[in-house]
Amino acid sequence: MSAASNSERIEGEPMSLWVATGGSTEYPGLRGDVEVDIAVIGGGIAGLTAALALKRAGQTVAVLETARVGTGVTGHTTGKVTSLQRLAYTELRDHHGTDTARAYGQANEAALRHVADVVATEGIDCDFRRVANYTYAESDEALARVRAEADLAAELGLPATFTTEVPLPFQVKGAVRFDDQAQLHAVKYLQGLARAVDGDGSFVFERAHARGIREGSPCIVDLEDGSVRARDVIVATNVPFGDHGLFDCRSRPHRSYLVAGLVDTPPLDATFISVDEPMRSILTVAIDGKSYVLAGGEGHPASEAGDTAERYRRLAAFARDRLGVEGVAYRWSTQDGIPVDGLPYVGRMSPEAKHVYVITGLRKWGLTNGTAAALILADTLSGRENPWAAVFDSNRTTPAANANQPVEESTEAVSATPERVDLAPGDGAVIGVDGDSTAVYKDEEGNVHAVSAVCTHLGCIVDFNPADVTWDCPCHGSRFAIDGSVIQGPAVIALPPRPVP
Ligand code: FES
Repeated sequence: MSAASNSERIEGEPMSLWVATGGSTEYPGLRGDVEVDIAVIGGGIAGLTAALALKRAGQTVAVLETARVGTGVTGHTTGKVTSLQRLAYTELRDHHGTDTARAYGQANEAALRHVADVVATEGIDCDFRRVANYTYAESDEALARVRAEADLAAELGLPATFTTEVPLPFQVKGAVRFDDQAQLHAVKYLQGLARAVDGDGSFVFERAHARGIREGSPCIVDLEDGSVRARDVIVATNVPFGDHGLFDCRSRPHRSYLVAGLVDTPPLDATFISVDEPMRSILTVAIDGKSYVLAGGEGHPASEAGDTAERYRRLAAFARDRLGVEGVAYRWSTQDGIPVDGLPYVGRMSPEAKHVYVITGLRKWGLTNGTAAALILADTLSGRENPWAAVFDSNRTTPAANANQPVEESTEAVSATPERVDLAPGDGAVIGVDGDSTAVYKDEEGNVHAVSAVCTHLGCIVDFNPADVTWDCPCHGSRFAIDGSVIQGPAVIALPPRPVP
């Protein structure tokens, strides 16, 4: 809550490589009322994949994206499309048994095949490439775990082998390798999905901010200047909008960081993730004739951000020292829900819901898990059996991750905040103004911006994040832009403006 270091001192544009190089879309907002079979709230991987699958099944859909297609969580991923997810199978087998681990792997492999099929049939130009994916070990302890994961994954029928031949530019002891995995340009893929969805009685709306869902026959999704009437509604907003299933207690928001830098070597036919800590994720890609290396990691629960600038610096050092990156071109962070029992939530919003469905808790593997989840709901809403629906059931019994933080926190925080602070350009701080917590930021030109510091979800006080230049809530992970607009939920209402102190 105190003034923090200036983002200028961190290398790279604070923007996702995919967003920076993906171009943008210009779908209209929704003015008036439309009627379709299915309303989909959220224009990311899960929402658009579900919308297209439903359209292909003969239903009409309307996708409501609150910003622009590709600017949300999916546009901030690594770009890996893979069923090898570090040591997921060992973890799932230990918690849920072999059958669940197998089902999870099958669902993710089916998702990978679906993405390849959609890219081909819709002719989406999104740099889709088949690559091998490796989970690598540098220590003896990690090597044993990698061997066990390879054996288990092969036993589950997945394309796994153990290997000591790992095409990284530094020495490792071994890895589990999955063949025929993939990577893609996440924003271009979403834009391709949106193009295929829009038209013939189906719609993509942008800057279309859903304000509420009235469940009934039909359901009505209310927006500022219009509404969508639909038989069923899918909520695919990362953190569920209109959460009646208490998913913010059943899933922990977890943040990840990525840097991308230029190299003078061509991309590898492989992607990587480490077992040893600190975890590092690696992907190489060529865009517009330039070769980039992406290095990711530094993950943490949203409530434990610490020094976010230092996190970028550690990733930059790794990219430079071990991957030959000369300078960071882009840096970004994002959050995803880690479900308390390790499995995504897909199905009805709550046990009582009849027509409102949810996809959430994609455990940072959204390109495959989001696709798998979308296909499950597309089957469900088309009256087809899906073999993995039960495993991902959103209404299964799970332990609670964290009770909602008491609103009293905000009161304590007000009394602890200073009444004034001297800000350097690029710095932000929370100060107390007339008993109210105000979030104040001074931009590089010296202009001061002020919004309420009280999170519109449940009233915690936001912190300034100097590396991403955002206001972040430590309680359940909501993130806000400097002007107060919501970047990431569970909050759905912007931080209201305050007088500049
Ligand atoms: Fe829940 Fe801020 S109080 S995200």
